[in-house]
Amino acid sequence: MRVITKIHDMVEACNIAPRPLGLVPTMGALHKGHQSLFQKARESNRSVVVSVFVNPVQFASQADFESYPRDMEKDLEFLGACGVDLVFCPSQTEMFPIGMESRVNVGGIGERIEGKLRPGHFEGVATIVCKLFNVTRADRVYFGQKDAQQNLVIKHAISDLNYAVKMFVVPTVRGKDGLAYSSRNASLTAMQRKKAGIIYEALLTAKKLFDSGEFDSEKLRNEAKRVIGLEPVISRIEYVSIADLVTLEELVTINRSALISVALWIGGTRLIDNLILSH
Ligand code: PAJ
Repeated sequence: MRVITKIHDMVEACNIAPRPLGLVPTMGALHKGHQSLFQKARESNRSVVVSVFVNPVQFASQADFESYPRDMEKDLEFLGACGVDLVFCPSQTEMFPIGMESRVNVGGIGERIEGKLRPGHFEGVATIVCKLFNVTRADRVYFGQKDAQQNLVIKHAISDLNYAVKMFVVPTVRGKDGLAYSSRNASLTAMQRKKAGIIYEALLTAKKLFDSGEFDSEKLRNEAKRVIGLEPVISRIEYVSIADLVTLEELVTINRSALISVALWIGGTRLIDNLILSH
């Protein structure tokens, strides 16, 4: 496994790497969710490239950026065990030198749900992912269902900007209690972690209601909120959204396939999760 920190070296390494080349963009603090993306990429590419970069331009506050979990040494060990060929871990100034003010904005899809609460977030995500496409010229790229809106943003960027890369979405990997693996879970106390399974339980309760024929989104949202409310460790629900699976426009009546997504706080940790409601 080669570890590369400079764009120039990465371009050269990807130029000579056997094709097809599969890319998995990450922000590190790697876990089993990331691992399933590496495995998927390993199955069908001759070269697997993983980027590890905590992207400053997708964080709303400096404090959130600074407190994001980082453990490069452990990540490299993990990546080695996963059979990755190339790791790209550039510095902040390598990716965003002073004066680099270009941004990729895909419009409306990035301004709904999460985007409404985190202005500029998806612009930051699209910018870094497009830079990674340009540096690696990846044939395939792998993302997790856990970040459903991010996937739609990237899908738009690929299509709008004519990238030739093919995108794959891998199912969310969950712990035994249903909590989705997330780098941010590392910030939970043992007690908070024990109770966090309620997020998945709430989503499942709403999904079961939908599967039994309830298409009134307010009823589903209220049910999800009620279940979350049973657990006092959840300090604040930011949203429960039920939106069109393609456009992410909020639905009053769920008359087509939809995404139910939540964002909430457990103490100082913000977690998100989602499930698809398929018609
Ligand atoms: P990060 O949060 O590190 O996630 C990297 C990839 O892993 C994303 O595609 C995410 O959806 C996927 N992932 C995270 N948890 C998962 C889980 N439990 N199951 C399956 N997949 C999971 O998402 C980002 O980084 C950044 O925004 C990035 C795309 C790298 C741009 O900076």
